[in-house]
Amino acid sequence: MISDKDAPIGIFDSGIGGLTVARAIGYTLPNESLIYLGDTARVPYGTKSAETILRYSMECADFLVQKRVKAVVVACNTASAYALCDLQKKFKIPVIGVIEPGARAAARASKMKSVGVIGTWGTISSNAYGKALTSIDEEISVISKACPLFVSLAEEGWTDNEVARAAAERYLAGFKSESIDVLILACTHYPLLKDVIAGCMGDNVMLVDSAETTANSLEDLLREKGLVSSGPGSREIYVTDLPAKFETMAKRFLGPIPSCVTRVDL
Ligand code: DGL
Repeated sequence: MISDKDAPIGIFDSGIGGLTVARAIGYTLPNESLIYLGDTARVPYGTKSAETILRYSMECADFLVQKRVKAVVVACNTASAYALCDLQKKFKIPVIGVIEPGARAAARASKMKSVGVIGTWGTISSNAYGKALTSIDEEISVISKACPLFVSLAEEGWTDNEVARAAAERYLAGFKSESIDVLILACTHYPLLKDVIAGCMGDNVMLVDSAETTANSLEDLLREKGLVSSGPGSREIYVTDLPAKFETMAKRFLGPIPSCVTRVDL
């Protein structure tokens, strides 16, 4: 029987994008065992209703809890926006999302106290980042925009071509007349389009994503609860559909992945 300390950390996302968060956790906490679940059968979450996102998120977390994880990281921004509170109420183990850490990083980085947020339709309509930012500093002004096509572009591997550039120009035009100095990539998939987004926004706007700060928050939490593992860490990856496609895309975007990909039903 493995001790609580050496139990794995569960991470879930609607699909592939959350691997950026898993990767950051792997760098920050190399001794921890990680179990990643991508709900590829039902991606995207960002276009769905609050009830559906909550139900899917509960099922993902249930799967991870059955694997006896010691903590759950909700790597999906949309799921964090709609399901984090309910997940925290339902499970005894710690559950953290990506919004708080991302908002904290942005608030720290913005000298002008003016922050842009781009995400899925669901994340933007929830105003979860707006609320998180103004609860950190009520003087911060927030402008936000849903950029739903970015998810499909990332899934298609069109992360740096003329279609991606045209979509970025169109979606981000409104930000250029606003004096923001930080733009939050409030969606797991958007870091894959970082170069195109940065090219469009120019050097004066810093892009912030939640991956690293979420990994740091997780580290703080494990230390606080005395749950840091001394290793060695293992890696498992599960998806709800098309494991071979997931593996190919993951390798294309993120380089070698640390485990084979297994299909599961939730
Ligand atoms: N994982 C989602 C997010 O971070 C993006 C993809 C989707 O819509 O499911 O909001």
